[in-house]
Amino acid sequence: MNRFWNKVILPIIKDINAKHIVEIGCFTGENTKNILKYCTKNNAKLSAIDPKPAFNIAQWNRIYKNNFSFHKDTSLNALPLIKDYDIVLIDGDHNWYTVYNELKIIEKFNINNVFPIVLLHDVAWPYARRDVYYNPNNIPNSYLHPYKKLGMVPNQSDLVEKGGINWSLNNAIYEDGSKNGVLTAVEDFFKETNMSLTFKMTDKSNGLGIIYHSNKNLDQIIDKLLLDFANNLG
Ligand SMILES: C[S@@+](CC[C@H](N)C(=O)[O-])C[C@H]1O[C@@H](n2cnc3c(N)ncnc32)[C@H](O)[C@@H]1O
Repeated sequence: MNRFWNKVILPIIKDINAKHIVEIGCFTGENTKNILKYCTKNNAKLSAIDPKPAFNIAQWNRIYKNNFSFHKDTSLNALPLIKDYDIVLIDGDHNWYTVYNELKIIEKFNINNVFPIVLLHDVAWPYARRDVYYNPNNIPNSYLHPYKKLGMVPNQSDLVEKGGINWSLNNAIYEDGSKNGVLTAVEDFFKETNMSLTFKMTDKSNGLGIIYHSNKNLDQIIDKLLLDFANNLG
């Protein structure tokens, strides 16, 4: 998601003058640092969620103080505890069950307010139509597709025996079908929501999707940012 920071995420955050940002999935904190730089400059707060962050939380708490609140937990446990945010970056566990339920929680806790802007990574290949599980134990059996620690190559549905991308992760053996993948989760959420929401995406850099309360001004801004991002990649 870091790749989208300068050209897409930061301009949106600035445009809405975000005061409370939620980040799901921090890893080494590359993008978390970007967000915290914005927060310290703009008197805003970051609530970050990751069950296994690869940085020193105590140290970051000391540095960023009131601008930073960290939840060392899964998104489905931590999100219901976080209130009044205006933007959410979803880049955690890229499977149907997790992403669909993240969106359901965001909807439930914002039903009387405006839906926050939600940015989701991995809405294009390889995880648009294929689940991956950071921790399969977190997923109820009925939502868990068969998976293997094998990689993926473009234009081939089967996992490859050697190499390929993300070969060390638990990738679903089969693509497509129901309740499989991040884009499928977004589509299923949209089939059920009564809120007036818009979804736009680019398929560049594994895909960035953006959900927001339908709004002509944001349509123009987001269309332009996504187009410029795609064109600048050449
Ligand atoms: C792709 S990395 C995030 C990269 C980061 N957003 C960036 O732009 O540099 C995914 C992260 O999600 C975390 N993760 C896995 N399952 C999660 C869950 N259920 N809830 C929140 N985070 C999760 C992993 O520990 C990992 O650090």
